[in-house]
Amino acid sequence: MEKIIRIADRIKETRNITPNELEELLTTDDEQGIEYLHSLARTTAHEVYGNAVYIRGLIEFTNYCRNDCLYCGIRRSNTNADRYRLSTEQIMECCRSGYELGFRTFVLQGGEDPYFTDERICAVVSGIREKYSDCAITLSIGEKTKESYQKYFDAGANRYLLRHETADDEHYRRLHPREMSLSNRKQCLWNLKEIGYQVGCGFMVGSPYQTVKTLYSDIQFIRELNPHMVGIGPFIPQHDTPFAKMKAGTMEETLRLLSVIRLICPRVLLPSTTALGTIHPQGREKGILSGANVVMPNLSPVSVRKKYELYDNKICTGDEAAECRSCMERRMEEIGCHVVISRGDYAE
Ligand code: 5AD
Ligand code: FES
Repeated sequence: MEKIIRIADRIKETRNITPNELEELLTTDDEQGIEYLHSLARTTAHEVYGNAVYIRGLIEFTNYCRNDCLYCGIRRSNTNADRYRLSTEQIMECCRSGYELGFRTFVLQGGEDPYFTDERICAVVSGIREKYSDCAITLSIGEKTKESYQKYFDAGANRYLLRHETADDEHYRRLHPREMSLSNRKQCLWNLKEIGYQVGCGFMVGSPYQTVKTLYSDIQFIRELNPHMVGIGPFIPQHDTPFAKMKAGTMEETLRLLSVIRLICPRVLLPSTTALGTIHPQGREKGILSGANVVMPNLSPVSVRKKYELYDNKICTGDEAAECRSCMERRMEEIGCHVVISRGDYAE
């Protein structure tokens, strides 16, 4: 137990971790030591954000995608995916009901869909910006040129989520088709930062071929980028992908990594993800208790929910936004946290 406690304390103090320490934390069966790690991460989040949990309303507005990432259920090669796009009116309706429910951040997430040209994205963004001037607009629509990112920013977008997926070149190539590269992905993140977005990177836990070494690279990349947000959740196989038969990531490993990230980046906005809630009924609560401070319930129309199937058995696909909102509130209160109605900006 002493050993894990010492490691946890050292991470908090130095805001860094060695490869050996990471290995130790990820492989130990010292449950009390790990409980200490989680509580230290929780205290760290509390020092910055108190018991506030921020909510983001996720609008999955298109599942068309020109990419072919091997892990993802909406990859272009998946001919079984039932494709959809929301109209501007539908997106605005999601925001309207979301605003009423107290959401002050809208996350527009979608595949890399050529239908949504820069003009169309900007029209949607400025439409939301005009109507909801007190809300943050987050985009999560993949790799674009710096010019495109600038246009969205000028139209009123404030934040951008683009998981780097893995910071190890060879690992990146095993998860993605040839035409994609880690260097371009990283460049996108730097461009976004330079433009002035609050940026989020992140990765899946337990993705195929992931090792302690690749995870160590992930953590070092996060330290270098110093993002405002980090999104991590377990890899969960999707039945129509090349990784259908691969093993899923575990909750335990995800929780340990959430804690490590909180200790290294005390102020970071860290979601307890839907994927974590999918592999365990109390996954999202445990994520918060391990140092996460954001939840992202779905605002998409229930009619399309099941179609945005990045992985199997995704939760909340049958629930109206209002149900998820109150469910989330209840779940957070049960663990002594409080869902707040605010944009929930990065605490500078
Ligand atoms: N399991 C878990 N997460 C996934 N993502 C994509 N496919 C899966 C999967 N099978 C994640 C990726 C992507 C984010 C939107 O969803 O990390 O960046
Ligand atoms: Fe969606 Fe509980 S958060 S039903």
